[in-house]
Amino acid sequence: MRISKLLIPLFIITLSVSLTLPAFADGGATFKARCAMCHGPEGQGKVGPKLAGTALTEDQITTLLTTGDDAKKAPHKKAISGLSADDAKAVAAFVKTLK
Ligand code: HEC
Repeated sequence: MRISKLLIPLFIITLSVSLTLPAFADGGATFKARCAMCHGPEGQGKVGPKLAGTALTEDQITTLLTTGDDAKKAPHKKAISGLSADDAKAVAAFVKTLK
Protein backbone atom coordinates (compact mmCIF):
# COMPACT_ATOMS: atom_id res chain seq x y z
CA MET A 1 0.00 0.00 0.00
CA ARG A 2 2.77 2.45 0.94
CA ILE A 3 4.79 1.54 -2.12
CA SER A 4 1.93 2.04 -4.54
CA LYS A 5 1.27 5.43 -2.95
CA LEU A 6 4.82 6.37 -3.85
CA LEU A 7 4.83 4.78 -7.27
CA ILE A 8 1.76 6.46 -8.64
CA PRO A 9 3.01 10.05 -8.26
CA LEU A 10 6.39 8.91 -9.56
CA PHE A 11 4.70 7.41 -12.58
CA ILE A 12 2.74 10.60 -13.20
CA ILE A 13 5.88 12.73 -12.93
CA THR A 14 7.80 10.50 -15.32
CA LEU A 15 4.94 10.56 -17.79
CA SER A 16 4.52 14.32 -17.69
CA VAL A 17 8.26 14.91 -18.09
CA SER A 18 8.42 12.63 -21.11
CA LEU A 19 5.40 14.37 -22.62
CA THR A 20 6.72 17.91 -22.13
CA LEU A 21 10.26 17.25 -23.34
CA PRO A 22 10.49 17.49 -27.12
CA ALA A 23 11.09 14.24 -28.90
CA PHE A 24 14.84 13.84 -29.29
CA ALA A 25 15.72 15.51 -32.57
CA ASP A 26 18.09 13.30 -34.54
CA GLY A 27 20.30 15.58 -36.60
CA GLY A 28 21.93 12.77 -38.54
CA ALA A 29 18.62 11.30 -39.63
CA THR A 30 17.29 14.73 -40.60
CA PHE A 31 20.42 15.42 -42.61
CA LYS A 32 20.03 12.14 -44.48
CA ALA A 33 16.36 12.79 -45.19
CA ARG A 34 16.42 16.53 -45.92
CA CYS A 35 19.93 17.64 -46.92
CA ALA A 36 22.02 14.72 -48.24
CA MET A 37 20.43 14.75 -51.72
CA CYS A 38 21.92 18.18 -52.32
CA HIS A 39 24.90 18.30 -49.98
CA GLY A 40 25.99 14.64 -50.16
CA PRO A 41 25.62 12.01 -47.40
CA GLU A 42 28.93 13.07 -45.84
CA GLY A 43 28.39 16.75 -46.59
CA GLN A 44 30.99 16.54 -49.32
CA GLY A 45 28.84 18.63 -51.65
CA LYS A 46 26.69 17.83 -54.69
CA VAL A 47 24.22 20.36 -56.12
CA GLY A 48 24.74 22.26 -52.91
CA PRO A 49 28.16 23.30 -51.63
CA LYS A 50 30.39 21.18 -49.43
CA LEU A 51 29.33 21.49 -45.79
CA ALA A 52 32.03 19.34 -44.19
CA GLY A 53 34.41 21.65 -42.33
CA THR A 54 32.20 24.69 -42.93
CA ALA A 55 33.32 27.96 -41.37
CA LEU A 56 29.72 28.76 -40.45
CA THR A 57 28.81 28.38 -36.80
CA GLU A 58 26.07 26.09 -35.56
CA ASP A 59 23.93 29.17 -34.86
CA GLN A 60 24.44 30.56 -38.36
CA ILE A 61 23.41 27.24 -39.90
CA THR A 62 20.38 27.02 -37.60
CA THR A 63 19.30 30.53 -38.61
CA LEU A 64 19.77 29.77 -42.30
CA LEU A 65 17.52 26.72 -41.93
CA THR A 66 14.82 28.31 -39.78
CA THR A 67 14.55 31.75 -41.40
CA GLY A 68 16.32 31.47 -44.75
CA ASP A 69 18.53 34.14 -46.30
CA ASP A 70 17.40 36.32 -49.18
CA ALA A 71 20.96 36.54 -50.48
CA LYS A 72 21.15 32.74 -50.92
CA LYS A 73 19.96 30.61 -53.78
CA ALA A 74 17.08 28.15 -53.46
CA PRO A 75 16.23 26.32 -51.32
CA HIS A 76 17.80 28.61 -48.72
CA LYS A 77 16.05 31.84 -49.65
CA LYS A 78 13.33 30.66 -47.34
CA ALA A 79 13.21 28.49 -44.24
CA ILE A 80 13.38 24.75 -44.92
CA SER A 81 9.74 23.68 -44.71
CA GLY A 82 8.60 21.32 -42.01
CA LEU A 83 11.80 21.66 -40.02
CA SER A 84 11.19 22.52 -36.37
CA ALA A 85 13.58 24.76 -34.46
CA ASP A 86 14.83 21.68 -32.60
CA ASP A 87 15.38 19.77 -35.84
CA ALA A 88 17.27 22.73 -37.29
CA LYS A 89 19.52 22.96 -34.25
CA ALA A 90 20.15 19.21 -34.25
CA VAL A 91 20.96 19.10 -37.95
CA ALA A 92 23.22 22.16 -37.62
CA ALA A 93 25.09 20.42 -34.81
CA PHE A 94 25.38 17.35 -37.04
CA VAL A 95 26.76 19.44 -39.92
CA LYS A 96 29.48 20.71 -37.56
CA THR A 97 30.54 17.09 -36.89
CA LEU A 98 31.20 16.48 -40.61
CA LYS A 99 34.87 16.68 -41.43
C1 HEC B 1 17.53 21.36 -53.12
C2 HEC B 1 18.91 21.22 -52.71
C3 HEC B 1 19.28 21.58 -51.27
C4 HEC B 1 18.75 21.05 -50.11
C5 HEC B 1 17.64 20.04 -49.96
C6 HEC B 1 19.50 21.65 -49.02
N1 HEC B 1 20.44 22.52 -49.50
FE1 HEC B 1 21.75 23.62 -48.43
N2 HEC B 1 22.38 24.56 -50.10
C7 HEC B 1 21.96 24.27 -51.39
C8 HEC B 1 22.55 25.25 -52.30
C9 HEC B 1 22.34 25.29 -53.80
C10 HEC B 1 23.33 26.11 -51.51
C11 HEC B 1 24.12 27.33 -51.97
C12 HEC B 1 23.26 28.56 -51.83
C13 HEC B 1 24.00 29.83 -52.11
O1 HEC B 1 25.20 29.90 -51.82
O2 HEC B 1 23.37 30.75 -52.59
C14 HEC B 1 23.21 25.65 -50.14
C15 HEC B 1 23.85 26.22 -49.04
C16 HEC B 1 23.82 25.73 -47.78
C17 HEC B 1 24.59 26.25 -46.67
C18 HEC B 1 25.55 27.42 -46.72
C19 HEC B 1 26.90 26.90 -47.11
C20 HEC B 1 27.92 28.01 -47.15
O3 HEC B 1 29.11 27.67 -47.05
O4 HEC B 1 27.55 29.18 -47.30
C21 HEC B 1 24.31 25.48 -45.58
C22 HEC B 1 24.89 25.61 -44.18
C23 HEC B 1 23.35 24.49 -46.00
N3 HEC B 1 23.08 24.68 -47.32
C24 HEC B 1 22.81 23.54 -45.18
C25 HEC B 1 21.76 22.70 -45.53
C26 HEC B 1 21.12 21.79 -44.62
C27 HEC B 1 21.55 21.54 -43.19
C28 HEC B 1 20.11 21.21 -45.31
C29 HEC B 1 19.07 20.22 -44.80
C30 HEC B 1 18.19 20.70 -43.76
C31 HEC B 1 20.14 21.73 -46.66
N4 HEC B 1 21.15 22.63 -46.76
C32 HEC B 1 19.29 21.35 -47.70
C33 HEC B 1 21.12 23.26 -51.75
C34 HEC B 1 20.34 22.51 -50.88
